[in-house]
Amino acid sequence: MLNPFDIVIFGGGGDLALRKLLPAMYRAYQEGNLPQGTRILPTVREESKKNDYVDTAHKALQEYLSNGEYNQKDWNEFAKFLVPVVVNVTEADDNWDVLREILDSDNEDKSRVFYLSLPPAVYGTCCELLSKKSLISKNSRVVVEKPIGYCGESAEEINSKIAEYFEEDQIFRIDHYLGKETVQNLMALRFSNVLFENLWDAKTIDNIQISISETVGLESRAGFYDKAGALRDMVQNHLLQLLCLVAMESPHKLNANSIRNEKLKVLEALRPLTEKLVDENVVRGQYVPGDLNGNLVPGYLEELGEGSSTTETFVAIRAHIENWRWSGVPFYLRTGKRMKQRCAEIVVEYKPVSHNVYDEKVGPILPNRLIIRLQPEESIQLTLMSKRLDNLEMQLEPVTLNIELSEKYSNGFHSDAYKRLMLDAAANNPSLFIHRDEVRQAWKWIDPIIARWQEKGTPALYRAGSWGPESADELLAEKNHAWFNVGEK
Ligand code: BG6
Repeated sequence: MLNPFDIVIFGGGGDLALRKLLPAMYRAYQEGNLPQGTRILPTVREESKKNDYVDTAHKALQEYLSNGEYNQKDWNEFAKFLVPVVVNVTEADDNWDVLREILDSDNEDKSRVFYLSLPPAVYGTCCELLSKKSLISKNSRVVVEKPIGYCGESAEEINSKIAEYFEEDQIFRIDHYLGKETVQNLMALRFSNVLFENLWDAKTIDNIQISISETVGLESRAGFYDKAGALRDMVQNHLLQLLCLVAMESPHKLNANSIRNEKLKVLEALRPLTEKLVDENVVRGQYVPGDLNGNLVPGYLEELGEGSSTTETFVAIRAHIENWRWSGVPFYLRTGKRMKQRCAEIVVEYKPVSHNVYDEKVGPILPNRLIIRLQPEESIQLTLMSKRLDNLEMQLEPVTLNIELSEKYSNGFHSDAYKRLMLDAAANNPSLFIHRDEVRQAWKWIDPIIARWQEKGTPALYRAGSWGPESADELLAEKNHAWFNVGEK
């Protein structure tokens, strides 16, 4: 069991803290994973907000927890862990001293986690004040959110600033996708089954699709989103991390350094995108009003309340990994808002059989397909060709082996990426966090896309409730491929 720890949540009244971080800690408490003696210290900027904080947290939990998770008795106990404090992260005032005194009042070896649920622009100032005001103890760590920066250069600046005050092994960069139980299962699937590992390369795989589609739109995050767009918000981090886990070699051990090194090698092997390659391999889209499962929803510009914006809400990319294992295999990455269905999945399409021994009337032999669905429900499906057993003819058709993981493990455990990652940060386990080198390398690949888009073109439009712009379908059709859209094939 974890030792008691202190976690200071800077930006404690913000959307992320109320919607994700507090529910995560509450779930940890309910499961018996929040040790007694732990303190959760959300920071707010005003005394009045501090006085109201416990009420605010109470309302947030009632709103954001799933059905059946909230109950009064657990809340009463959980509320005792909360110690709201006033801190203005950009001002070197006495409030920092008060916070230090609270932290110092406990055992000096206690783990201290500073969670910066703040805009990246103030990460540097916050770390500087933590240092100047002597809050960084020998057992302190800092947790920062993605996306770090708006391009490679700004990310370097932010990372360098944090590095003035914290060592790399004290810096925990979050990508919440890595905390999803199903994402960790990707590694388990690959590295504990000889079956897949032996069929995991360019000799047998034709193409791989990694897709995160969302039905939500701007969600009152216009200020952030219109500056970021889908490329920075989703591709630079979540999609590239999934790509790494799918494509990397087996680490020799399951420790943080080995895993990160293998992921880094994948990022380094990505074929660099020149201007021409961006034009040919990357699609950017923006949604216009449309029918989303029976509801008419506004377009991006209407939601934004602006007459014009070239921010992309959809990205599709054909990427190549230039190494022995993957040479010639297209990796299709796709993400978008206001798409037809919410789904995150990895689709591995195998090559056709090398020689067809059946004659044509037996039916086409379709390639095998492995689908690893991460959400909304977790499952693994494998399609195989099989003889129809309901007649004497030799007729083939695809059948599906379907493992519904969400049904198998429906014991009330609430898988929550933030819970896992916050507890890992408290336990000083960095395996599921991102190293600075990975951030640098990911931006190196993304920067040419940003540069090209600044120079040329506007997003292709797609209707809300569709699977994205036509040009995204054409991107795959060029190689005789097609997106696998959940519920459609
Ligand atoms: C966040 C993005 O990192 O991930 C959001 O900023 C996005 O725009 C979210 O909606 C998706 O996460 P999940 O876990 O709901 O798939």
